[in-house]
Amino acid sequence: MFKVASRCRVCRGENLWEFLDLGDQPPSNALLRPAQALEHEPKYPLRVAACTDCDLIQLTHVVAPALLFPADYVYRSSVSAAMTAHFAALAREVADRFVPKNGLVVEIGSNDGTLLRSLLGRDLRVLGVDPARNLALEATASGVPTLPEFFNAAVGEAIRREHGPASAIHANNVMAHVDDVHGVVKGVAALLAEDGVFVVEAPYAVDMLEHSEFDTIYHEHMSYVAVGPFARLFREHGLEVIEVQHQAVHGGTIRVFAAPAGRRPVHPSVGEHLDLEKRIGLSSPETLTSFARRAANLRRTLCALVDDVRATGKRVVGYTAPAKGNVLLNYCRLGPDRIEYLADATPAKQGLLSPGMHIPIVPPDHFRADRADYAILLAWNHRAEILAKESEFRARGGKFIVPLPTFEVV
Ligand code: TYD
Ligand code: ZN
Repeated sequence: MFKVASRCRVCRGENLWEFLDLGDQPPSNALLRPAQALEHEPKYPLRVAACTDCDLIQLTHVVAPALLFPADYVYRSSVSAAMTAHFAALAREVADRFVPKNGLVVEIGSNDGTLLRSLLGRDLRVLGVDPARNLALEATASGVPTLPEFFNAAVGEAIRREHGPASAIHANNVMAHVDDVHGVVKGVAALLAEDGVFVVEAPYAVDMLEHSEFDTIYHEHMSYVAVGPFARLFREHGLEVIEVQHQAVHGGTIRVFAAPAGRRPVHPSVGEHLDLEKRIGLSSPETLTSFARRAANLRRTLCALVDDVRATGKRVVGYTAPAKGNVLLNYCRLGPDRIEYLADATPAKQGLLSPGMHIPIVPPDHFRADRADYAILLAWNHRAEILAKESEFRARGGKFIVPLPTFEVV
């Protein structure tokens, strides 16, 4: 079911220092049907450590991928208009800069094909790879050919044999999700053209630490991406980091561009991020214990507020049911006795229960008709989009509790 990581995933050293324990939790996307509420629910330790040799922050317990990424995965990239636009802009930039006429663009972890779909109509070829069969079929049917596979060295080699080398390979929010990162990067190195680029986008470990984003720690996120440890990983497979871009989305994200070593100039942003990571100290005890302390403080503050307003007869609900929200709710032990429901726009989540806490998930229309007093904004990374969409709620006196990156009631 799970294994204890005794060695670092990148450098294979044994110096892992655990700094935060979020308790035993179910996989944060393992929503339950109401009938399952009485069955035994598997929970696994959610603890995080830093490798003091290469600075990679990583989970100490690795849950088997089959348990984390079920064949009918419910997350869909396309549910957020802002994320759809974000990925379309990324795809366009990479295609304009790096992909020649009729070049091949591959996306690892392509989900429902949102990014690649934005390239249809251009003079290039696209291929998605995603192990969630329902999404792979859906994407293929919508014009984005998608292999229903976990990407690894063998898959990378097979794609190259069939389609030729790739000019660009995207991996958005996927490098954090794989245990065998060496296998993936080996496959990328095998598939990539000599003048191709590998573009990794992932939540940035520096932002997580600086902005107290402990709810981005969940079983699916086995590693917390930073330039230093990933540059080291790439180097072992003949790739070199050539550029780093920082983005505000998802609470702070980096894009790491890598290319076959020596083929392209290295942009100053690479050194700047390496310096920043050294200055902060991704495995320094002060940095990491301060982060753990802020998580505990937020738990105290949030629970106290919920209990105080409920004591005055007010009703509290949750807005959205993201993976990070489930981590927060399980860590704070906020269940349906205090949070009446979670309103989420993803049809596949509606009618289900949140993992661990078993809070019912309802459509946003229910929230709009219901007139609750407080709503915890669990997907705080989509704050601007949601506050705009739900302006009615606040106009009639409702308040959003925004837990992170700074606790706020708005
Ligand atoms: P996401 O940002 O992917 O967070 P995580 O990676 O922690 O799961 O999830 C956002 C969730 O919020 C998803 O369930 C869809 C939902 N959502 C809404 O219900 N309405 C919205 O307007 C937006 C932007 C998201
Ligand atoms: Zn290491």
